[in-house]
Amino acid sequence: MQPISDIQILDNDLKRERAKEKGVDPEELDRPKSGYQEIDGARSVFIETYGCQMNVSDSEIVASVLRENGYGLTTEESEADVVLINTCAIRENAEQKVRKRLSMLRADKRDRGRDLTLGVLGCMAERLREKLLEQEKLVDLVVGPDAYRDLPRLLNEADESGQAAVNVQLSKEETYADLAPVRYDSNGLSAFVTIMRGCDNMCSFCVVPFTRGRERSRPVSSILREVQQLVDEGYKEVTVLGQNVNSYHYTDDDGTDVSFAELLDRVSRVSPELRVRYSTSHPKDCSDDLLRVHRDRPNVCNYIHLPVQHGNTEVLDRMRRTYTREEYLDLIDRARSICPGISFSSDIIAGFCGETEDQHRDTLTLMEEVRYDHAFTFKYSERPQTYAHRKYEDDVPEEVKQRRLEEIITLQRQHAAESNKQEIGKVHTVLIEGPSKKSDEEFFGRTDTNKGVVFPREDYEKGQYVRVRIDDCTSSTLLGTALETTTLAEAAETDTIVA
Ligand code: 5AD
Ligand code: SF4
Repeated sequence: MQPISDIQILDNDLKRERAKEKGVDPEELDRPKSGYQEIDGARSVFIETYGCQMNVSDSEIVASVLRENGYGLTTEESEADVVLINTCAIRENAEQKVRKRLSMLRADKRDRGRDLTLGVLGCMAERLREKLLEQEKLVDLVVGPDAYRDLPRLLNEADESGQAAVNVQLSKEETYADLAPVRYDSNGLSAFVTIMRGCDNMCSFCVVPFTRGRERSRPVSSILREVQQLVDEGYKEVTVLGQNVNSYHYTDDDGTDVSFAELLDRVSRVSPELRVRYSTSHPKDCSDDLLRVHRDRPNVCNYIHLPVQHGNTEVLDRMRRTYTREEYLDLIDRARSICPGISFSSDIIAGFCGETEDQHRDTLTLMEEVRYDHAFTFKYSERPQTYAHRKYEDDVPEEVKQRRLEEIITLQRQHAAESNKQEIGKVHTVLIEGPSKKSDEEFFGRTDTNKGVVFPREDYEKGQYVRVRIDDCTSSTLLGTALETTTLAEAAETDTIVA
């Protein structure tokens, strides 16, 4: 699994481009994420997770439901009695990959006579259930994102009847608030905490409102309980998750309305030594109150993933994003004036319906103005049911989409490299996540602003906060030297001082 906060969506074009450059097979990036922690039980389940952080978090809920019902978890797909694929539908090629994988598993079952129950969970469930069950006869089980509590019953039903079992009912209430997720794929330091489900925004390109249903927020008390438990277990970082966390709202038992800013403040007060991140934000709901929480709470990271999607107001309007280019840029200015040093990443789509060359250039000029530290970039992929599919023509030719995407990637790479160079000589507080990918002699961690840092291991230990002086960089990573261990409270006084 990629460092947790880097998981965005499976088929992230920027990552694929980078992989190609480094001589890594881009398919490697698509290697699904599966469990590390074995849990004994009568029948063993292997869960493969595709897609975004929400799916990783959902797989932890699925693991919890199954464990409570006597199932075991295995890390070996070949040893499993049940294989569950948690799917992503955000773009067409994400779906294609899942289908390929299902065909492989199905062939294994048929040709080798393997006694295997094969299930599809998550975003593809509702949309493709008929195809998967009837036309392609690929699976025994189809379970939508709001029906995971029903999994044990469905598994029994499939086994007993020999027929496919299905529940793709979406819910207006389900938040799985009372379930303690099983952190089966965790480094023991960073965890996801889902605070809301679904999305009401209806961006015209996006299938999520159809696959995940209406927006609903989880009770404050259950969120805080989960965070406290993570702290008690030694976790050092939480990423608070939702399709659009900024629109979180919950009326507490005493009648107080709790906004996302208030919730984030409360989460950050569970422990001063717990780093708090969140994902993902919609610019239309990013309030000054929220920006002040970033400024005032030392353990709320100074980093916002704030997807712009496009740099041209007319395209933004057709995307139904409900803000203009100018409003977005104003928000960035406001954030920087309230919280100096805050960093941003973005999602950007190239080649949306009707995009002209001039409009594409507006995306490039917006990037010049904002200077993102990181961007997840995508070619537009038409999704069934969406407004864009019904109303607009997917009329930008593939080679034009590709060329525009490449221009965006090249510019972003340049910005990331320049931003990294500016870090040289500064000191950052880094949470040590573990050995670097290249060497056991080096550690990898992240700055408050979510930049990856590699430094010699010396006698430091995973899980410590260390002050690291940045000595050098590549376009994607900072290279440094650890100076001493620290705490987040101390770091608030000393971070980013030029050494
Ligand atoms: N085509 C391309 N990219 C898309 N995204 C969502 N839907 C589509 C689509 N149909 C991108 C958006 C979103 C990210 C998670 O995926 O940029 O923010
Ligand atoms: Fe999709 Fe827009 Fe909702 Fe994000 S905010 S999940 S892009 S509809």
